[in-house]
Amino acid sequence: MRSLARLAELNPWRTNPWFESVAVAQQRARKRLPAPVYGALVAGSERGQSMTDNLDAFAHLGIAPHVVGQQPVRNQATTLLGQAISMPVAIAPTGVQAVHPDGEVAVARAAANRGTVMCLSNFASKPVEEVCAANPQTFFQMYWTGDRDTMLQRMQRAADAGAQALIATLDWSFATGRDWGSPEIPERVDLRAMARLAPAVLTRPRWLAEFAASGRLPDLTAPNLAPPGGPAPTFFGAYYEWMTTPPPTWADVSWMVREWRQVADRPFLLKGVCRVDDALRAVDAGCAAISVSNHGGNNLDGTPAAIRMLKPIADRVGADVEVVLDGGVRRGSDVVKAIALGASAVLIGRASLWGLAANGQAGVENVLDIISGGIDAALRGLGVASIADLRPEHLLIPEGFHRVAGDDDAAQRPATPATPIRALG
Ligand SMILES: Cc1cc2nc3c(=O)[nH]c(=O)nc-3n(C[C@H](O)[C@H](O)[C@H](O)COP(=O)(O)O)c2cc1C
Repeated sequence: MRSLARLAELNPWRTNPWFESVAVAQQRARKRLPAPVYGALVAGSERGQSMTDNLDAFAHLGIAPHVVGQQPVRNQATTLLGQAISMPVAIAPTGVQAVHPDGEVAVARAAANRGTVMCLSNFASKPVEEVCAANPQTFFQMYWTGDRDTMLQRMQRAADAGAQALIATLDWSFATGRDWGSPEIPERVDLRAMARLAPAVLTRPRWLAEFAASGRLPDLTAPNLAPPGGPAPTFFGAYYEWMTTPPPTWADVSWMVREWRQVADRPFLLKGVCRVDDALRAVDAGCAAISVSNHGGNNLDGTPAAIRMLKPIADRVGADVEVVLDGGVRRGSDVVKAIALGASAVLIGRASLWGLAANGQAGVENVLDIISGGIDAALRGLGVASIADLRPEHLLIPEGFHRVAGDDDAAQRPATPATPIRALG
């Protein structure tokens, strides 16, 4: 199989593995991945309203570049939960499933090579120890699943591995029906499953060759949810534990924050915040950061785009906690828009998965380079020397753009007007 791969490299019609945009990476991922694998990544629950809005809302925000007065040197380095990062972009936690044999380790290496943070899902296919070794700036993400002793044991394991922060994702509501029909995911990849999936897999020889060359089958287990010394549960076994765990209360969030402080004394981020009242309670619970997110549109459909909810939340809690955004980020100008509206950084989910599928670790580096280049271009056009100088006034914001939920005092404050670009820069 290795010689087959080498032969493919001699092919004069072979596509240049480098790509110029995340959209091209996605096209390549669609061609490369078996349809059920690609389908699981596209995801988007119910009618896909939230997923679509995540993308469309960025397109509704305008930028008006200067013709003269650009800054010769521009800086996009920053910090995220105490970690120095080269750009305000980190990798979102995603259960990578069967995209690439090196999975999250390849993504972590790419993030490390580009000087940024890797967030590892507790549903990931690679152990936290391997991922932290590949990128010492790894954050570990947990759902509220299992009993408290089990959660504590998982926190301890992540801390021992070197995870620099804990992310608790508590937004999931198990409303996952998709109008376009979910792809079938087998319980485990055995001969029977391979036979069932053969029609989808055999038409994707490059994906098959990559796994064959690695000598491994796609791993559908969750090694980070294994009991000490025990086997990793299957994805469905882990999902069952999660579904049958009673939902957390705010007291449980405070408990998690406290326990993580005891275990590691490193920062805690609550992911999935959509409402001002929840953001305020996250501050009260002792979170160091929140992520404004609708889970990439995979959760309750109808939740507005994360970028629409960002400013009203950042305005209320941005002085008390770091506010991160995720959902729909595909280019550098998206990042600049999010920072201008109050985010300190963004997380990218699908963009990194498309890069991984298109060209492994190099593909993820390619995606980070595209986004970083786009940030630089936007800063240059706006005449801004640093991401720290970005303000809402740098954007053309259409009236009615923002969405506010759970802010009882909002009526007393003046509405945010559509902002003219003239004001700054
Ligand atoms: C295939 C897939 C799997 C995901 N798995 C997780 C997960 O395990 N934990 C989590 O907190 N978020 C998960 N997410 C949500 C991402 O962390 C992030 O919120 C989302 O991908 C951001 O939107 P974007 O894909 O448009 O960048 C997942 C998203 C996708 C697309």
